Amino acid sequence: MRRLLAAAALAAAAAAGPATAADPARGAARAAEACAACHGVDGRSTQPGIPSLAGQPAEFITLQMILFREGLRQVPAMNEVARGLPDPAIEDLAAHYAALPPGPPPDRAPRDAALAERGRALSARMNCGVCHLPDYAGRAQIPRLAGQREEFLAATLREYRDNRRVGTDTQMNAVMYGVTDPDIAALAHYLAQRD
Ligand code: HEC
Ligand code: HEC
Repeated sequence: MRRLLAAAALAAAAAAGPATAADPARGAARAAEACAACHGVDGRSTQPGIPSLAGQPAEFITLQMILFREGLRQVPAMNEVARGLPDPAIEDLAAHYAALPPGPPPDRAPRDAALAERGRALSARMNCGVCHLPDYAGRAQIPRLAGQREEFLAATLREYRDNRRVGTDTQMNAVMYGVTDPDIAALAHYLAQRD
């Protein structure tokens, strides 16, 4: 059932693609009203547990919004926000956030050199940059990680490991299988410190 719905969501996103022209200005107007209070006025979140969206690939945002809308990614706040949102509105929002310059949140923690080095070595060994790109900017359905909020990265990596978060595919669940909490903390710190 889950897999079928995810496939349907993907098909819907693909079908909506070339037929409509996403409008970042329309997206900006809706975002100011419906998203900025939580995700930040410039798309850089200042709130623990809420991810920054600035600079995320449009395709990633679109697909995650569809997962929220269909209840496949379960986060009450986002399921509420996405309920009934038509595909074109989602694509406008995605175009808006993808165009905003990414950057770290204003409350980013100071760098812990030893922890960051441990995270760098783990990321290299686990091939994170092969999919997320060597500068962790993401592409297409794969999210940007550089400069993301550290506590969000750690929490969401634990969710993938524990199969509490399932995405448009199960790649991240496989990547995180059996990874320890201390290793997750090191990965999250390293990625949050990247610009
Ligand atoms: C009430 C607060 C709130 C509002 C309003 C809100 N969000 Fe969110 N959003 C969240 C939280 C919390 C999460 C992270 C949930 C998690 O995975 O733990 C999230 C996650 C997301 C994600 C996934 C990002 C990622 O990196 O995984 C996207 C995309 C998103 N929101 C888009 C939007 C858009 C677009 C709007 C406006 C239409 C919006 N949100 C409004 C709280 C909010
Ligand atoms: C085989 C390709 C692949 C590899 C390798 C990979 N990822 Fe991912 N990653 C993805 C995809 C695809 C997604 C989006 C999945 C979804 O829809 O939830 C993702 C999502 C994520 C997210 C969610 C971010 C957000 O904003 O919601 C984090 C964090 C993440 N990956 C971190 C990592 C780390 C750390 C590593 C290395 C330990 C890694 N990834 C390796 C493909 C990969």
